[in-house]
Amino acid sequence: MFIVRRGDRLFAWRNACPHYDHARMAWRKDEFLNGDRSRIMCAAHGAMFEIETGICTIGPCPGKRLKKVEIEVRNGEVWIVGRYAPGMRPRAGVHQD
Ligand code: FES
Repeated sequence: MFIVRRGDRLFAWRNACPHYDHARMAWRKDEFLNGDRSRIMCAAHGAMFEIETGICTIGPCPGKRLKKVEIEVRNGEVWIVGRYAPGMRPRAGVHQD
């Protein structure tokens, strides 16, 4: 997963591109944003996603969206809330939330 901060707001997404086989997206370690840092960019084929919604707006999978990770900030710490299984990739025929 990764988190993008916009001012005092945080947006957490799974590191899994909806375009192809839930590919990892960083183009370099911990680098998920495009050049002007206005969108999340997948390194594989250049899909661009809105930071706030996770929706692909430019590239090979328009309309598809990243999977949100539910987080909360508690006393200055970021916590994952709800179900989350790090490193797990979906298997064919298995539903994921
Ligand atoms: S796998 Fe992300 S754009 Fe193709």
